[in-house]
Amino acid sequence: MLDGENHRRRRQLVMPSFHGDRMKAYGDLIVNLTKKVMDATALNKPFLARSAMQEISMQVILQSVFGLYDGTRCEQVKDLTGKMLDIFKSPFSSSFLFFPFLQKDLGKASPWGKFLCQRQQIDQLLYAEIAERRENPDPNRIDILSLLMSARDEQGQGLTDKELRDELMTLLLAGHETTATAMAWGLYWSHYIPKASEKIRNEINTLGDKNDPVNILKLPYLTAFCNETLRLYPVAMLTFPRVAQEQVEILGYQIKPNTVIVGCMYLVHHREDLYPQSKQFKPERFLERQFSPYEFMPFGGGVRRCIGEALAMFEMKLVIATILSNYQLSLVDSQPEVPRRRGVTLAPANGVKMVMTGKRTRQESRVMVSSQ
Ligand code: HEM
Repeated sequence: MLDGENHRRRRQLVMPSFHGDRMKAYGDLIVNLTKKVMDATALNKPFLARSAMQEISMQVILQSVFGLYDGTRCEQVKDLTGKMLDIFKSPFSSSFLFFPFLQKDLGKASPWGKFLCQRQQIDQLLYAEIAERRENPDPNRIDILSLLMSARDEQGQGLTDKELRDELMTLLLAGHETTATAMAWGLYWSHYIPKASEKIRNEINTLGDKNDPVNILKLPYLTAFCNETLRLYPVAMLTFPRVAQEQVEILGYQIKPNTVIVGCMYLVHHREDLYPQSKQFKPERFLERQFSPYEFMPFGGGVRRCIGEALAMFEMKLVIATILSNYQLSLVDSQPEVPRRRGVTLAPANGVKMVMTGKRTRQESRVMVSSQ
């Protein structure tokens, strides 16, 4: 999944920087998709917040990254990706991705054989989409695939089909499950601590009719709430591994060249000196003081930090704001959700079982969709 510095540089160049028209377009897209998924949720019937959030984050990726809105190809990519991502569900079934000796193609029934078959089918769909775009370039498209296709390096070279396909897969795999899990935790905390959702709604109401995505993004309590959600159970607990290039001392430990080091966000986020009563959910701590990138690091750190951070935070805030201001939800279980390893993420063990009891129609609570 990880490739060379060259790719990373180009990928960074094209990741949307979220300002102006592009930000508005992505914001409206996220709000509308959230409403579409939530409107389809049956009243008074339990549903899993994690599944609803997966549906939203998958649609956001398909539209914002791949530029796939609807149609057969879109449905096929969604279906196949869902199946492929199931492999990442448990640390056990995902282990063969990390251990080459388990990667034996013993036919479609074997885990690796199944993975290869699904990957090949997605590849075909992606290559077909890339070929169509090359034939009919449309300068008005704002999806990341279009941006990647127009990106050029210093020598004026664009990406090959294979490179484009690799970029799309990386963004899909790195961005879908992580963001969905973060949003599921956000829904959990906002309903487990009703005061928190009340505060978010009140804050949104202070915007009046200026409740567009750009202003929602800047709300201080909502920002603190999302940060606290990512602090307490960081969706990605660990950074990608780093290899020491030379002898270095870290916190008094001598690290020899070639030593593999993995950072653990969970441990940093539970340092009592930084976050007193660290197991408690308290968004206010992010309003009371600023934390440095060495103290709060849900997206990793340094040159390999997550490149999807801006998109993920934008999506998380807009989805939570849209849901809290438009729908009445409650948790089905009174027992607290506990974190459990789900593939490479730290997810709510029971998927956050919720029920929708109604829609908010009062003028002051009815917020969002800024496309006018
Ligand atoms: C809440 C959601 C997300 C979380 C918590 C998260 C977290 C992380 C973390 C911890 C890393 C490793 C950083 C390191 O080793 O220092 C990472 C890498 C990465 N993330 Fe995210 N991520 C999220 C969403 C996204 C999204 C939406 C995208 C893209 C659409 C994305 C794309 C990537 C990519 C491409 C890398 C690899 C960067 C590289 O190779 O240098 N992530 N992410």
